[in-house]
Amino acid sequence: MNKKRTLKDTIKLLAVTIILALSVTVAWSKPKGNETKGRFYFKQTCKSCHAKGASGGEITPMSKTQAQWERYFTAGKHNKGTELLSKHLKAEQLNDAWVYLVNHAVDSPQPETCGK
Ligand code: HEC
Repeated sequence: MNKKRTLKDTIKLLAVTIILALSVTVAWSKPKGNETKGRFYFKQTCKSCHAKGASGGEITPMSKTQAQWERYFTAGKHNKGTELLSKHLKAEQLNDAWVYLVNHAVDSPQPETCGK
């Protein structure tokens, strides 16, 4: 066994442990929502004003990055900040929509246009 290699392995193990700890923290701070329900609520409620040509202009999960959706839902404001997002969906449903939109944002692993 050579000593150098052991040290390298220890450092690797440490790095992996730190990354794991960080991802667990991130996972905990995320809203607990149901993505499948979120897609439904988004289509049913948000899309009524955010389809192509509708009053609010076209919005899809791909309209924002994951970080932008996080900020948008954390702020909770809608329609240029004039009202609350919760005007349109109940808190629990908003969390579902939040998860759906973040999971399919433009920089997500599975970007989605939601039926365009
Ligand atoms: C009753 C119609 C209506 C519904 C329902 C609706 N919106 Fe909007 N939304 C608007 C209007 C109007 C604007 C302002 C558009 C503009 O910039 O002129 C807007 C703007 C936005 C914007 C752009 C930033 C902002 O806040 O101005 C986002 C993102 C958005 N809506 C997301 C959503 C989501 C998510 C839902 C479902 C929870 C939703 N909207 C439901 C009408 C609606």
